[in-house]
Amino acid sequence: MLASTTLSPGHTFGRYEVLTRIASGGMAEVWLAHVTGVAGFEKQLVIKTMLPHLAETPDMVRLFIQEATLAARLNHPNLVDIFELGERDGRYFIAMEYVPGRTLRQISARLKRQGQAIPPWFLLRVLDRVCEGLQYAHDYAEADGRPLNLVHRDVSPENIMVSFTGSVKLVDFGVAKATQAGRAASKPHSLIGKYSYMSPEAVEGKPIDRRADIYALGVVLYELLAGTRPFAAPEEFAILAQIVEGAPKDPRVHAPQLPDMLARIIMKAISRAPADRYQEVHELAEDLRHLMRLQYSPALLQKPLAHSLSEWFSDSTEIPTSVKKQLSVPPRPSRSSSVLEPEPPTLSHNLAELSLADVHIEEVPLPPRAPARLSVPRVPRSELKNDIFAIRRPSPSAAHDLFPGARRTPMVAERPASLPPPPPPPSPPLPARQAPGAELFDRGLELLRERQYVRAFELWKEAVQREPDNRSYQTNLKRLQKLLDESGGNPP
Ligand SMILES: Nc1ncnc2c1ncn2[C@@H]1O[C@H](COP(=O)(O)OP(=O)(O)O)[C@@H](O)[C@H]1O
Ligand SMILES: [Mg+2]
Repeated sequence: MLASTTLSPGHTFGRYEVLTRIASGGMAEVWLAHVTGVAGFEKQLVIKTMLPHLAETPDMVRLFIQEATLAARLNHPNLVDIFELGERDGRYFIAMEYVPGRTLRQISARLKRQGQAIPPWFLLRVLDRVCEGLQYAHDYAEADGRPLNLVHRDVSPENIMVSFTGSVKLVDFGVAKATQAGRAASKPHSLIGKYSYMSPEAVEGKPIDRRADIYALGVVLYELLAGTRPFAAPEEFAILAQIVEGAPKDPRVHAPQLPDMLARIIMKAISRAPADRYQEVHELAEDLRHLMRLQYSPALLQKPLAHSLSEWFSDSTEIPTSVKKQLSVPPRPSRSSSVLEPEPPTLSHNLAELSLADVHIEEVPLPPRAPARLSVPRVPRSELKNDIFAIRRPSPSAAHDLFPGARRTPMVAERPASLPPPPPPPSPPLPARQAPGAELFDRGLELLRERQYVRAFELWKEAVQREPDNRSYQTNLKRLQKLLDESGGNPP
């Protein structure tokens, strides 16, 4: 019987011919396929079929059909497009859009082999898009306005894809469930989905809602930024017990360099009680975006995701020629010399956009010191917008992106969970007399993060003296002065 045999290249499902197997997951096989039409029409797509042994289980077949039925209604750039649910010779299949790219799990694994981690800016930008797709799915309503209350239930690094053209897609609605009364399809106690990303309420078999997806997003963030999951144990039951207990360590225990604000976002998302989490995905996304604006340079926030992916998987044949062409463009010549220099990595913080109350300086810590041999060209002062000052020390990931040949220290330090976070680094030494204003300003900013306001003020004052025509320095100095005045020299 066909349903009990696995597919092989050349197998056809009506118009679709399977080419190669992309993945074999817990429930299904995923195949690259193509469809041909008149006048040489050809399109690649993905065919997902149930694993043969599951195809005999009515519950599983129902779940599979449900995946397709629910997901096919959705139409969003960050959700994979479903073309058709079909059945051929007793075998159900889903035909869907082919995403030529890699999952966050694959990206993480590739980078790990090179001693690196996914750069936080890349991860946050990807998850921001995932949030958009998820919010759309959560809010999806019937034509008559009745909400479906859809929950994905399997948000994980395996189900988030970045394509070589830069699009971000959430795949696999395999265990998605409409939570509306009477629609529940999967048994409450069937622990479907990956254990580590399951919310406490799901583990306990309680009703779940969209906040379970928010929890899973938090786990994905935690894992890929801290290098370990919030709950890790050799046995599944132990993981589940820890999830229910709900006392994860702060991710900074594993990754001390993680910004406080990011750690707080993650901890909120993985709160044990759904009421303590973000209630909507867009709330999480807003906080992530706020953090990104504070933490990363416009250059990094605009860099095409496709470029990074193509750099990491430069051996892939799936990189479109258009992207390859862009990648092979030589770096722009420096304005100050005839030598080809890489683009200067800048990390801009627009303090002008922040009210004084917002200047929680500890929330935008400087990235760890980059390898000393990275000499970074200066940005001409004319390029610095008013009230924006650029920190010219690149983060390791920024350094890597802008200096592809540079050796890169891993963004995430592997630390045993038992170790407390290391003591804060010693305050930076005062710069040499001949240091230009920009360097003084950067040092001052570092001191601000260490709450050494008065010393920072002194450095900024000196920076202004050295570069009296720099309005950015003046404005920020005034702002700091005001902060000090208002707080009696001891800001909160
Ligand atoms: N539309 C797609 N395009 C490209 N690859 C895909 C697509 N859908 C899934 N994959 C790949 O196949 C894997 C398994 O697919 P998925 O739908 O998640 O199945 P499962 O239910 O077994 O987890 C994914 O992790 C991803 O690597
Ligand atoms: Mg999957």
